[in-house]
Amino acid sequence: MEVQLWREVLEPYHLAVDELVVKFNHVKQQYQEAKMYSPIEMVSGRVKRVSSILEKLKKKGAELSQLEEKVEDIAGIRLICQFVEDIETVVAIIKNRQDIVIKQEKDYITKAKDSGYRSYHIIAYYTVHTIQGPKQIEVEIQIRTLAMNFWSTIEHSLQYKYKGHMPEDIRDRLLRAAQAVDSLDTEMSSVRDEIMDAQNSNRQKANIISDILNNIENLYYVANEREVNKIQNEFFKIYLKDDMGMLKRFNKQLDIIAETYRAQSVQGYRN
Ligand code: GTP
Ligand code: MG
Repeated sequence: MEVQLWREVLEPYHLAVDELVVKFNHVKQQYQEAKMYSPIEMVSGRVKRVSSILEKLKKKGAELSQLEEKVEDIAGIRLICQFVEDIETVVAIIKNRQDIVIKQEKDYITKAKDSGYRSYHIIAYYTVHTIQGPKQIEVEIQIRTLAMNFWSTIEHSLQYKYKGHMPEDIRDRLLRAAQAVDSLDTEMSSVRDEIMDAQNSNRQKANIISDILNNIENLYYVANEREVNKIQNEFFKIYLKDDMGMLKRFNKQLDIIAETYRAQSVQGYRN
């Protein structure tokens, strides 16, 4: 294969990564818009660098022409969750989709790799459409918690540094760190409900505040400035009290005020 052909070969993989990143971010957004907890915290994706592809081919003793069948992670998507429990939810979401067809699942969560690595992998088929027509390619989706991701990022850079000759003591330390990550995830799971409650009420508060600010902004168009300023000051007083009930009641009042103005303006138009 000629070097300048790499771009052509990798093109559909770039498209797949771009599309899947958009799609998974959209899943996250949908949860947020429905004011629900999202099992996906972060989405990232990358196309494997040519040097890493070559390295993998060499490791597998494969030919350049076998590139697309032998290297399953040319297109890689990483989905990061807050809690271990979220991983199975994300897997279920993926299984429900028609655009992603699962080829293989690797569960390194219930059984970590010897290195200590933990993550859930899905190798899947995904079809992209280019001007040459549809093309089915393979993508690797890695699903893991924030803590697992922290560990594997660090471990990966050390692997890179030692290039397969990691000193015994570093390896031991990494294994111990992996155990610590495991207990951290377990601890976090045990306070999951509490954490989720806190996050939900933070989100609710942020939503109601943005509702109120929107309402006040709309009043600027219809009410007189003095009245709106009065409302603004009242809002700030209530805001300082940090009481959700009061904020909600205040927002209801604003709705009524806005409704009164709307009714007046409709009447005005009719006359
Ligand atoms: P390679 O390990 O890449 O040769 O592929 P494989 O066919 O053995 O698949 P495997 O499921 O072992 O690994 C796939 C991907 O998972 C790798 O490319 C890494 O991104 C990640 N991975 C696997 N093992 C480890 C590990 O010990 N440490 C870290 N940091 N990442 C790992
Ligand atoms: Mg491996």
